[in-house]
Amino acid sequence: MIDIHSHILPGVDDGAEDLGVARAMAERYREAGVEEVICTPHQNAEHRDAARLKEAFASFSEAMRDLPVSFYLGAEIYYYPGMAEDLAAGKLLTLNGSRAVLVEFSTREETAIADAVFDLAAAGFRPVVAHIERYWYLKKDDYFLIRESGGMIQLNAGAFAHEHAVKTAKFLLKERLVDAIASDAHDDRSRSVDFEAAQKYVKRKFPRLYDSLFENNFTALFGMTSWI
Ligand SMILES: [Fe+2]
Repeated sequence: MIDIHSHILPGVDDGAEDLGVARAMAERYREAGVEEVICTPHQNAEHRDAARLKEAFASFSEAMRDLPVSFYLGAEIYYYPGMAEDLAAGKLLTLNGSRAVLVEFSTREETAIADAVFDLAAAGFRPVVAHIERYWYLKKDDYFLIRESGGMIQLNAGAFAHEHAVKTAKFLLKERLVDAIASDAHDDRSRSVDFEAAQKYVKRKFPRLYDSLFENNFTALFGMTSWI
């Protein structure tokens, strides 16, 4: 199992504050049977410092070498006009150097997500829309449009613990619109690595999707196993 959205990389954003917290999170990954984790610290128009993130990642992965979890570097990028150009220029991080890009949008102001996705896809990237359940303003048609515009859809595992988000999750699963369920873990307390509620829900309501979403989600997401 792979987690493609995690703020475990310590000391670089609002995620793990230090190595101790990161280790506690890594321990939860081990318990949950997650073997691969893509670290996705925040990047945005003001904070793009890819070199600093690469440096932090190098010492982090060295410190985690004794654990049976492999870590890779990526980012969660807050969309801004010009993002595609900055990606092409290497100022922003894709998921482990692939063409896949984890991208987030405003959860307050309505944003034309499908249009942004289309622009990123047209520039040769594979946008993965982060925590899709948070964009309250999206209508049912918008989810299809995001997919048709070349986007992939990531749902947070935590969505299954919230009444409203569960409705969105159920709709998306029913329509086979979910490409990945990820933790978006920030700490080892309230926003930790927790796939249990999501796994229980999918097992109960959508048993046929379970394997592709949790066991072989790596293959399901990228259709191949060699991009890492
Ligand atoms: Fe995140």
